[in-house]
Amino acid sequence: MADTLQILQHADKEQQYLNLLPQIASLVENEPDFIANCANIAAALKESFHFLWVGFYRVVNQVLVLGPFQGPIACTRIAYGKGVCGKAWQQAVPMIVPDVDQFPGHIACSSLSKSEIVIPLIIRQQVVAVLDIDSLLLNDFDDIDRLYLQKVVDLLAHSFDALCLRI
Ligand code: SME
Repeated sequence: MADTLQILQHADKEQQYLNLLPQIASLVENEPDFIANCANIAAALKESFHFLWVGFYRVVNQVLVLGPFQGPIACTRIAYGKGVCGKAWQQAVPMIVPDVDQFPGHIACSSLSKSEIVIPLIIRQQVVAVLDIDSLLLNDFDDIDRLYLQKVVDLLAHSFDALCLRI
């Protein structure tokens, strides 16, 4: 595993994701520890795209509990169906919020957050965690982010599933 992330300096968003994906794959492929993999993925996404906040919430005893993240401190627990994260968990689908102030029930961990994307991590039909990303910019996420962040979460799911099968 390389210990330095290679980042394209003058590339569009899709090229950056394409450059990042194999690096994330190599970060997680031989590491069975879920927390370690979440931590490195959060760091890789933050360093590549300079989002305000990148992190994971895990489903623990029927609540989302803060996991590894990069960015300002955040709320530690989110109930089922609450906020963007709780909604993505409830509906088990990715959610893009172009303007967080227009999202009923949005949980503002930072007043600097303007838009948000949440991708649930689904293992055997169960949401076990969500990837949550906040941006300083309005309308910062689109189908390209959804597509490639889903691929990132799929890599994590694969490593998580491999871990479950080993136990
Ligand atoms: N905004 C999220 C809460 C988590 S923070 O953004 C880190 C939500 O509405 O679920």
